[in-house]
Amino acid sequence: MDKFLVSKSNLSGRVRVSGSKNASLPIMAATLLTDEKCIIKNVPCLKDINTMIKILEILGKKIIFEKNTLTVEAKKSKKYVAPYQLVKTMRASFCCLGPLVAKRKKAKVALPGGCVIGPRPVDLHIKGLISLGADILVEDGYCLAEAKKLKGSHVYLGGPFGSSVLATANIIMAAVLAEGTTVVEHAACEPEVASLILFLRKMGADIEGENTPLLRIKGKKTLRGCEFEIIPDRIEAGTFIAASLATHSHINIEGAEPGHLTSVFEVARKMGAKIKIDKNSRIIQINPPKKIKAVNITTLPYPGFPTDLQAQFMVCLAKASGMSLITEKIYPDRFMHVAELNRMGATVQRTGPYSVIEGKKGLKGAELMASDLRASAALVIAGLAASGKSRIARIYHIDRGYEGIEKKLKKLGANIERVKA
Ligand code: EPZ
Repeated sequence: MDKFLVSKSNLSGRVRVSGSKNASLPIMAATLLTDEKCIIKNVPCLKDINTMIKILEILGKKIIFEKNTLTVEAKKSKKYVAPYQLVKTMRASFCCLGPLVAKRKKAKVALPGGCVIGPRPVDLHIKGLISLGADILVEDGYCLAEAKKLKGSHVYLGGPFGSSVLATANIIMAAVLAEGTTVVEHAACEPEVASLILFLRKMGADIEGENTPLLRIKGKKTLRGCEFEIIPDRIEAGTFIAASLATHSHINIEGAEPGHLTSVFEVARKMGAKIKIDKNSRIIQINPPKKIKAVNITTLPYPGFPTDLQAQFMVCLAKASGMSLITEKIYPDRFMHVAELNRMGATVQRTGPYSVIEGKKGLKGAELMASDLRASAALVIAGLAASGKSRIARIYHIDRGYEGIEKKLKKLGANIERVKA
């Protein structure tokens, strides 16, 4: 298993953001809604994308993935089982359920198990599909959904922690081929959901209301193939902003969509950063302060501050002057990185969904263990900001979601090496 060796670094120069993993995955699942060819550009080359490719292949699709372009060849198939061996490695595979039952009348998708970031139920996915008329049976660790014909319905998707990104994706993908009109209330408004809607519209779907919590979907008999370009990864862009702040380095970020990063800019500015966006090139310039100001951060569904950046920004707050409070409103248990940061000399106290961070002058390098995708990105940032050397184990987590992370960081001047353990 590979490890990262990381040491204190000053970053400078430009970094280009890749296509969004979390936009790509549901869009790949949506190709199950047609027997025609789909070409999807700007898909990041990542472990999670390869997992989704394998699932689509098992479901009968023929796929070519070259130079960030994914071609899903026209091919008819009646296969409907997404096996546990693959689903267990990536929860997003559960969003094959909606398109499979809509197009192939039957879907058998393994239920994703527990997750290191906390309980991640799928009740909203199931509730939505039942309301569209699917018969659902949960048996032997699988969710079996069947429907001769789905029927448009009124679906309310609010859960205890707000909207659900992938439940919204699943229900939209089922409703586009249902008979009649579906209204989805409390839909997720994340840019990745809006992007899925644009993709489906290109396939011929009739959907109104993207970027809002109220969607109206008129079902169609069939959908066609199309060409589409994946949006930039806002979480990758936010991760580079955190790296810039934590290492007190001025960097420029290219290829991101500034409109998707408002809440992140707001927090970074409160922390003392100066952020300039060039209107023509859309390059985002980050000028961090000499001393980071303590701030309070609450994670919320979009357009709130993303849970997927909570760990990375905690590293910055560990170096701030004063006390900060992070409130995690999406995944109250998503704090596995706290213990690792404390081992680097940070003072973070976690109680339930709250973490109080007492800012310190510096962090010290240590032997570290990555626990999940975003926590591993946080540990890399912490290693770059700390004195001495850090050795980070289990970096396969980071390879799930950051395309060429060490190449990109090295280009910015980071001291980071991938070594065989
Ligand atoms: C998506 O997961 C992302 N994954 C996650 O990114 C991200 O953290 C999350 O949205 C929140 O923004 C992908 O897009 C592939 P949710 P998703 O359903 O859709 C609760 C990353 O690091 N809930 O929006 O699975 C749930 O427990 C990852 O890239 C229910 O109660 O998340 C959570 O508290 C990790 N019942 C809240 O809703 C349900 O049926 C939001 O989760 C579904 C969810």
